[in-house]
Amino acid sequence: MKRIAILGSTGSIGRSTLCVVESFPDRFQVVTLAAGRNLDLAFEQAKRWRPRVISVAAESHANNLRVRLNDSGITDIEITHGATGTVRVATHPEADFVVSAIVGVAGLEATYEAVRAGKSVGLANKECLVAAGELITAEARRQGKPLLPIDSEHNAVHQCLRGGKMNEVRRIWLTASGGPFLNTPKSKFADITVEQALNHPTWKMGNRITIDSATLMNKGFEVIEACRLFNLPPEQAAVIVHPQSTVHSLVEYVDGSILAQLSVTDMRLPILYALTYPDRIPSDLNFSLSDLRHLDFCPPDMEKFPCLRLAYEAAAAGGGKTVALNAADEVAVSAFLDGNIRFMDIPVLIEEVVSETSAGKMESIKEVLRVDQQARASARERVARLAGVPVAARQN
Ligand SMILES: NC(=O)c1ccc[n+]([C@@H]2O[C@H](COP(=O)([O-])OP(=O)(O)OC[C@H]3O[C@@H](n4cnc5c(N)ncnc54)[C@H](OP(=O)(O)O)[C@@H]3O)[C@@H](O)[C@H]2O)c1
Repeated sequence: MKRIAILGSTGSIGRSTLCVVESFPDRFQVVTLAAGRNLDLAFEQAKRWRPRVISVAAESHANNLRVRLNDSGITDIEITHGATGTVRVATHPEADFVVSAIVGVAGLEATYEAVRAGKSVGLANKECLVAAGELITAEARRQGKPLLPIDSEHNAVHQCLRGGKMNEVRRIWLTASGGPFLNTPKSKFADITVEQALNHPTWKMGNRITIDSATLMNKGFEVIEACRLFNLPPEQAAVIVHPQSTVHSLVEYVDGSILAQLSVTDMRLPILYALTYPDRIPSDLNFSLSDLRHLDFCPPDMEKFPCLRLAYEAAAAGGGKTVALNAADEVAVSAFLDGNIRFMDIPVLIEEVVSETSAGKMESIKEVLRVDQQARASARERVARLAGVPVAARQN
C-alpha cells in the first residue's frame, strides 16, 4: 500500500490523483491533503478520504472547515493552514509519496521540504522547478529519492529515457499543442479576450496553466523544467508544435533513433505512472491507434510567441532569471485574467522584469523567495502603470 500526500487536492491534478486512488483502493491510500480556498470541495474530500491531516489556505478557512467537520461528527482529522500547514501535509511521517500539485510558487516550500524529508515526489507543479530546480534536484539526489514528473511531456521523456543512456541522448523534443492561437495572425493578438485564451484546444486545466499554454510560456517553463529534471543544457531541449497532443514528447538518441510516447490526453495516466514507478499496472486508459489519422509537427514561432524565447534565455542564464520569469508571469497572467492588462502585454511585462533581475545563483529557498517577491513587486508596479493607461494609448 502506497500512502499518499496530495498538495493541491482541490485542483485539476489533485482531483485526477484522487480519481486514480479511487480506481486502485488496494494500492493507494490518502494520508494527507492540502487545499487552498475551495472549502466546499476540501470538506467533501475530508469526509470521503478521512486524511490524518488537511491543510487549507488561511486560518479563517481552517476554522470554517473545523466547524463543518465537527457538525458532521468528524473530529479525528487534524486541520491546519497556510505555508506551515502545507509543509506539515508534505512531510507527514506516514506519507511515502507526495503529489506536488499546488499551482505557482505557493507550492515551493512544501515540495522542497517533502524532498528534504526523503519522500518520493510526483511533480506536477512546474513553477517549483522553474524557480528552484537546481536546489530541489540537488536535494533529491542527496536523498537518493526519485522526482517523478507528472507534467505529461516530462513524464513522456522519463518513459522514453528508459530506452537508452543519458550520454546517448542527442536531444529531447517537447511537444506543444500550440494553444488556441496557433493559427491566429499576430495582428489579431491585440483583441484576444480572456475567454478565448482560456479555451485550450486539447487539455482542460487550471486557469494559470491554460493562459501559459496560450502564450507558450507553459512550453518555456517546460524547457526549464526539463533541463533541470534531466540535467540537460537548453540547446538539448527542443520544442516542436504538435497540434493533436497525441505524442506527448520524444527522445532523440545519438544513433538517430527517436523514441516517442503516445497515449490518451488524460492526466490520470502520467499520475498513475508516477505513483507506480518503476512498475506499470493495467489501466483502462487505452489509446486507439486505429483511430489515429494525422500526426503533424512544425517548429514554434518564437516571434509570435516571445514568451518561449524569454524562457530559453532565462534557462541559459539560470539563477535569479528563472525565478523572475515565473514570478512576473504569475503576476501578468493574473492581471490579464482580471482584465487589467492585454494578452500581448504579458511578454512585454515579463521581459522588463527579467531583464532587471540578476542571474545570480540561488543558494537557498529563502533566497529564491526573496528574489520572487522582488520580481513580483516590480511586475505589480508595471501592471498598475499599464492598467492606468488607456488601451488606445499603449504601444502595440
Ligand atoms: N492541469 C494539468 O493538466 C496540468 C498539467 C501539467 C502540469 N500542471 C501543473 O500542476 C500544477 C497544478 O495545476 P492545476 O491545473 O491542477 O491547477 P488548479 O486546478 O488551479 O489547482 C491548483 C491547486 O492549488 C491550490 N492552491 C492554490 N494556492 C494555494 C495556496 N496558497 N495554498 C495551498 N493551496 C493552494 C488550489 O486550491 P483551491 O482550489 O482550494 O484554492 C488547487 O488545489 C500547476 O503547477 C500546473 O502548471 C497541471
